Amino acid sequence: MKGKHIVLGISGGIAAYKSVSLLRLFVKAGAEVQVVITPNGKQFITPVTLSSLSGKPVISEFFTANTGEWHSHVDLGLWADVMVVAPATASTIAKMANGVADNMLVTTYLSAKAPVFVAPAMDLDMMAHPSTTRNLDLLRSYGNHIIEPESGELASGLVGKGRMEEPEKIFECIRDFFHTRESLKGKKVLITAGPTYERIDPVRFIGNFSTGKMGFAIASEAAERGAEVTLVSGPVSVEAPRHPAINVVKVESALEMLAACEKAAPEADIAIMAAAVADYRPAQPHERKIKRETDGIDSIDLVKNPDIAATLGAAKRPGQKLVGFALETDNADAHAADKLRRKNLDCIVVNSLADKGAGFGTDTNKIKIIYADGRQSDSFGLKSKADVARDILDAIENL
Ligand code: C5P
Repeated sequence: MKGKHIVLGISGGIAAYKSVSLLRLFVKAGAEVQVVITPNGKQFITPVTLSSLSGKPVISEFFTANTGEWHSHVDLGLWADVMVVAPATASTIAKMANGVADNMLVTTYLSAKAPVFVAPAMDLDMMAHPSTTRNLDLLRSYGNHIIEPESGELASGLVGKGRMEEPEKIFECIRDFFHTRESLKGKKVLITAGPTYERIDPVRFIGNFSTGKMGFAIASEAAERGAEVTLVSGPVSVEAPRHPAINVVKVESALEMLAACEKAAPEADIAIMAAAVADYRPAQPHERKIKRETDGIDSIDLVKNPDIAATLGAAKRPGQKLVGFALETDNADAHAADKLRRKNLDCIVVNSLADKGAGFGTDTNKIKIIYADGRQSDSFGLKSKADVARDILDAIENL
């Protein structure tokens, strides 16, 4: 972390006292830290403490009152190698998500070219409110990293999720981030995500519950590590990550997904098949809407879809890495090992729908990885999909 430029954004929550420890950890590790504090933040922690520890005047206002000196959020945004907002209150998260630039912290955020980490801290009900959930989803969709708060005793005396992650843990996140920053530089990564929709008629389809969140998290992490990413996404409601290094190709059906993958695969160094591809499609989609009264069909003829992973596996170049997913309800390891062989994968990420918090739609996942040489990782435990993406890319880089 030596010489790295960190903008530490502090907003007005009780957890602001923990930001002092975080600042000390950054400074001790050799980073240059510029603190930007919201007007409310100053009610919780004094700028004097922060400026003494960082060795730089704390920025809070757009102008220094007595000299009229303008604090350029643009310069600060460009200066930063990383921006960390800790604590991030519900209000600051909402402003960041919606571009309400009425203080230095949010204007700096909007000008920041660097990756942004957000450590929420609030009461459990505020944390669980749909407004907060939606705003955090928006921040994720911009490619920001959310450092999930812990469950525990809160300042209100209530117990629940909302306690800011401990400074040591936030510090580790940032240190790991710098560590892996350039690790995929120059590599091309192809990722599939989401479900496929197979048309029955113009209004109906065969699909599945995949939301694309796992594939999107992998795409964000690969881009952060310097890779050039082609993200082939089936129809999803979650916004695909926006990052200059991510090229999103939107498709609907398995056939379209296959075509997009076959186009990108020859160039790819790594292909990660996180999509839940429909195994079958209607043999003959109806051109017009099927009417119950007049068409009265009892069944739909299906034909098998191509296996995209297996197709790429059969055409794999030496050195190219191919990674699959296995989402199972039973006998997960045996099924996954079989898929790994059949599809010529280098490793397969196994998640079981039997595990609480794993699989479709959740923000968390619990995986293990099985390798082509028979090795198997231990279970990685229940983690956010962003953390799981990191584990998966670490494993692929170690191949
Ligand atoms: O055989 P199964 O569908 O369980 O295999 C899952 C793995 O294969 C995933 O990596 C998925 O993206 C990939 N797959 C595919 N094309 C299919 C079916 C699965 O790429 N038609």
